[in-house]
Amino acid sequence: RDTDPGGADDKQRQLDDVRLDLTGTELTTDQGVRIDHTDDALTVGERGPTLLEDFHAREKITHFDHERIPERVVHARGAGAYGVFQPYDDWLAEYTVAEFLTNPAVRTPTFVRFSTVAGSRGSADTVRDVRGFATKFYTRQGNYDLVGNNMPVFFIQDGIKFPDFVHAVKPEPHNEIPQAQSAHDTFWDFVSLQPESLHMIMWLMSDRALPRSYRMMQGFGVHTFRLVNAEGRGTFVKFHWKPVLGVHSLVWDECQKIGGKDPDYNRRDLWEAIETGQFPEYELGVQLVPESDEFAFDFDLLDSTKIIPEEQVPVRPVGRMTLNRNPDNFFAETEQVAFHTANVVPGIDFTNDPLLQARNFSYLDTQLIRLGGPNFPQIPVNRPVAPVTNNQRDGYHQSFIHKGRTSYFKNSLGGGCPALAAPGAEVFSHYQEKVEGHKIRKRSESFKDFYSQATLFWNSMTEPEKKHIVAAFRFELGHVDHKHVRQAVVDQLNHVDHNLAVMVANGVGVNPPEREVTPNHGRSSPALSQITMSLGG
Ligand code: HEM
Repeated sequence: RDTDPGGADDKQRQLDDVRLDLTGTELTTDQGVRIDHTDDALTVGERGPTLLEDFHAREKITHFDHERIPERVVHARGAGAYGVFQPYDDWLAEYTVAEFLTNPAVRTPTFVRFSTVAGSRGSADTVRDVRGFATKFYTRQGNYDLVGNNMPVFFIQDGIKFPDFVHAVKPEPHNEIPQAQSAHDTFWDFVSLQPESLHMIMWLMSDRALPRSYRMMQGFGVHTFRLVNAEGRGTFVKFHWKPVLGVHSLVWDECQKIGGKDPDYNRRDLWEAIETGQFPEYELGVQLVPESDEFAFDFDLLDSTKIIPEEQVPVRPVGRMTLNRNPDNFFAETEQVAFHTANVVPGIDFTNDPLLQARNFSYLDTQLIRLGGPNFPQIPVNRPVAPVTNNQRDGYHQSFIHKGRTSYFKNSLGGGCPALAAPGAEVFSHYQEKVEGHKIRKRSESFKDFYSQATLFWNSMTEPEKKHIVAAFRFELGHVDHKHVRQAVVDQLNHVDHNLAVMVANGVGVNPPEREVTPNHGRSSPALSQITMSLGG
């Protein structure tokens, strides 16, 4: 490659000729000047003013003054680890050209960051919240990021609502209370006015929101993505991580006590497991749906508030990831890692899920400010193992030393510009989906059943799990000052399950709904046997 990170080669050789016999353990300035005194600034006399010419003191303090970068606007608190992913066999090659998913001889390095969503960087681990499960695969075809959560659905259907949603979830703006929990008026006001959030709310009030360990947590890509095979044929796909240790949660009482005694509980557990060689493992699985079955479901595959029930489309195992190394430096690696849903490789593509489309804009945009300009892909944790050769130049924190006199395409002078991939070479080419329509702001009618899957979730719970959910609603909603908000949420829950609504109402001081409403639950089941048959599941 002609873009050599750090420009190490020639310059280094030249410098090695004059290398001093230093051990590298002595204190120096950033310019490599050795220092033997760092406790006292340079002053005029023993009790006089500090001198501006004390470059060591100025550099030391200046660097410190600039140590902080903005925390992530969401998912600010996290813990990361390196690992490796390896497919079990090549069965998925029928559906995708992504080598890291289909070549069992290839071990792909990964970096995973687990996170909470709402709290700030210093908040506690054991709060009731969604957990992020973001994986960077450093594949030979480029970096692929699977930026998922530990719950398979999301609060909203279209990313244009994300700023409203996050403003409602985060601590309230006048007093920055409460930190990292959903027990507040703005959050529940949002929920009561946006019934599309109800399915996710059921997950959030369940024990899934209190993972005992990051090693015992599922991960989901949430959206329907698309796999593309060598013939250019697309297949819809949902990605699943299943922890080999099984899924385990804390109970609320434990969370509150642990939160006081060890706010780093999940972070510490991950670190210690890896340090002691008990490497966390997760199986990657996929649910596949042929394009011909796009409309075979009673929900829309592009709606991120819906799961594809596993009874209808089974999860088929693809491979396994083992997390086997802790980062050396939290800031350099875990804080500076930058995941992006649009980081895809040949064989994986997007769908028109409006939540995904917004994410494909948002991550790069936020990282440009969080990581200080356009060159953050050069930070070691973000750098692909695949060669990077292009005409992108300059900018803050540029550490490639680009050689040659040209940096434009096309050119006839040579000298540094990469050539286009040769015909027939494997490249990323966007899936050729046919789209047509009028420009409108209107949600599809196929997105408008907000309750069926929330009910499905509730009905799938055991009695102890149901009790935990009711207790969670009572605790969280019980902290809401505005009675009309509590009432509105209970009225929404009546669309999910009448008994649930009554039990919650009785715990939060509002009127229980009198009658069961008949939500839109009884819609006919699709011809799903065809789907499983056509994919051999
Ligand atoms: C961060 C997941 C929806 C914007 C994250 C992270 C995860 C995640 C795991 C943390 C990444 C890390 O560890 O560094 C999800 C999932 C979503 C979703 C699963 C829905 C299915 C959205 C939407 C938007 C958004 C709709 C915006 C329109 C962001 C931003 C960050 C973030 C700005 C901070 C990224 C950074 O500073 O590097 N998300 N998110 N997310 N998400 Fe999302």
